Amino acid sequence: MVQIFLDTASLKEIEVFVRWGIADGVTTNQKIFLSEGGVDFKSRVVDICKLVDGPVSVETTMNTVPELLKEARKYASWHKNVVVKVAMYGDGRGLEVVHRLSREKIKTNMTVMMTFNQLFLAAKAGATYVSLFYNRSKEAGENPLQIIRDYVGVAKKDHLRPRLIVGSIRTPEDIASAVAAGAQIMTIPSKILSQMPFNQRSEETIKEFDKAWQDFLKVKRRNEAR
Ligand code: E4P
Repeated sequence: MVQIFLDTASLKEIEVFVRWGIADGVTTNQKIFLSEGGVDFKSRVVDICKLVDGPVSVETTMNTVPELLKEARKYASWHKNVVVKVAMYGDGRGLEVVHRLSREKIKTNMTVMMTFNQLFLAAKAGATYVSLFYNRSKEAGENPLQIIRDYVGVAKKDHLRPRLIVGSIRTPEDIASAVAAGAQIMTIPSKILSQMPFNQRSEETIKEFDKAWQDFLKVKRRNEAR
């Protein structure tokens, strides 16, 4: 089953999608937290973990391998659902961090990836999840749909274990395309997710059926009154 993660740190937004029954997890990053305007970082992470019964990605912010490892261990100690997000740095230090954390059984989500080769390396290093940034990858001249097809194709043969998260979603159409291409997990901002139930023709059809029923009741009441 394709999973939906919520690309937000807003408790209010998360509560809505938990009620809808569609929230399998949450992803956050520094910008997502900043948009929450000064909330206490640790307590917000723990509150999110209590709301959603699934993985909650929290991104590291430090620079060196020892610093990143220390930060990752700290986040992982906050709640059993925390998954540590580590960026795919160009010099490979993120891979080293992910590999070391995998040996400590700390779950990771290797993030900000734009190419198949980055996903491939992250999987080899021992990431639990690998994140492809759909629109940013497209902007970089890549073909994210083909990358998704290639990744799930190889994963099916059991050659790549981590589940593929597709993020950097800007429109509902991105979701339909990525899921059709085989995305295993979509992480979606609430602005996009909340548009997904709506279709103009569905609204018109609901009104048409309601009107037919009200007309029927009117005639029935009239006949009963005679
Ligand atoms: C995913 O984990 C990221 O939080 C997110 O999708 C980033 O995408 P954007 O910054 O392009 O919106």
